[in-house]
Amino acid sequence: MVSVGIDAIEIHTGKLCLDLAETFAPAHDEDPDKYRKGLGLYTSSFPDSYEDIVTMGANAAYRLLERTGHTPADIGRIDVATESAFDNSKPVSTYIAGCLEQVFDTTFHHANKGERKFACIAGTQSLNDAYNWIRAGRNRGRSALVIATDTALYARGDAGEATQGAGAVAMLISEDPSLVELSPQQGYGSADETDFLKPNQQFPSVDGKRSVQVYLARMREALSDYASVAGRMHPDDFAYIPFHTPFPGMVRKAGLLGYRHVIRDTDIEEELASEIGRQPRMEAFDDEEAYLDAVSEYTDKLKGTENYREWYERVIEPTLDISRYVGNWYTGSVHIARASALKHALETGRDLTGKRLLVASYGSGAQAETHTETVQPGWKDEIAMLTIDEQLEARHDITFEEYEHIHDVHNHDISADDTEEFTTPKNEFVFDGWGRMGERQYRFV
Ligand code: CAA
Repeated sequence: MVSVGIDAIEIHTGKLCLDLAETFAPAHDEDPDKYRKGLGLYTSSFPDSYEDIVTMGANAAYRLLERTGHTPADIGRIDVATESAFDNSKPVSTYIAGCLEQVFDTTFHHANKGERKFACIAGTQSLNDAYNWIRAGRNRGRSALVIATDTALYARGDAGEATQGAGAVAMLISEDPSLVELSPQQGYGSADETDFLKPNQQFPSVDGKRSVQVYLARMREALSDYASVAGRMHPDDFAYIPFHTPFPGMVRKAGLLGYRHVIRDTDIEEELASEIGRQPRMEAFDDEEAYLDAVSEYTDKLKGTENYREWYERVIEPTLDISRYVGNWYTGSVHIARASALKHALETGRDLTGKRLLVASYGSGAQAETHTETVQPGWKDEIAMLTIDEQLEARHDITFEEYEHIHDVHNHDISADDTEEFTTPKNEFVFDGWGRMGERQYRFV
């Protein structure tokens, strides 16, 4: 069976940096610890006035192709996942291909292009589409370019404003990949939900508290579904578990739920029984409410155990390193979490070759998906090429007034015409105004 997975990855962050604890919280008369400790976020990335989903995606893709020595002829498919699209007909992938054709001598005219939409899970769906296309043998030896790009902005004053972010992740999906091989098995948890949506509007309508519950419910379904095809799981089966990360505090909840779910009927549950009892079983209760109360009480106790804390520190915490500084990137978030974990392993000298990751994606509306990935021998060389630390360091810090201005610049209803830049673009694609049919135009500077 041909091995298919992620061969290479590049991350591009928005160039502006908003300090949530020091700048945003005081302006909202909030305690900075709500950000640092509660949501688990320190700063977030914003796009400068010349950046948008196309420039960020094109810049990530260009770096990826250039450093891996690929040319347009090597790419048979370009899929863009986004929930920030500005065109209801022409896909973002054509805009990005147009950008890339400015810097390559050849074209992507024989590559299939598309755009995937299902909130934040669309990035993983594009990855799976590429996997299926290669496994079906329709790729003619070529690779797929998957780009997850978003400006995750909320309306001013919305509770979600605290979790904003902007950036893109580009991934090359190939046969015999250097980074990770994807499992054919997948688990799904999917239901018609109205927790977060954008019915013909730029900024989302969000029921924030409910969205957290929907995330957990669909994730639990996906884990059960995955176990039904791949067999029972044990917490020690996985080196890391990258979750979709709208904010690290969400992953803290998901990690605890996942741990409780997979330790059921294992040696770990037995070992903890003398300390916190065994997990409640529905059969032992007369009504569901009493059962759920008992589950909640057990979960609270589980959170305080040494077993859980050690596991969380080792398997989940390293997936959050980048997210804490960039906020939510919607479609790119789970792919940042994977990169963050692999980067942590490289920096701490952990050898991951042959080890497995459980990748847990989520999109509002709502759907969760889980699959495993096996780390390949080339992972260290690939992860060493990431430039995210340098990019984060180079971001321009904005004041609260500058934040208000840049939010207006990217608000389609306001489109502030004073688009003065905070940073100076160099060797990258930038937004260059509108064309005669209302299309956005780009150039390489
Ligand atoms: N010190 C320590 N912790 C503090 C604190 C302080 N001073 N003040 C608050 N906190 C804690 C709170 O206890 C809370 O933690 P718990 O949930 O663990 O109790 C956390 O900080 C957040 O505080 P609030 O709940 O008071 O924050 P909020 O009312 O402003 O809303 C939110 C939080 C609902 C997540 C909001 O940010 C939101 O609507 N976000 C957008 C929606 C979202 O991200 N949903 C996630 C699931 S959906 C998804 O994943 C898809 C997607 O990408 C959008």
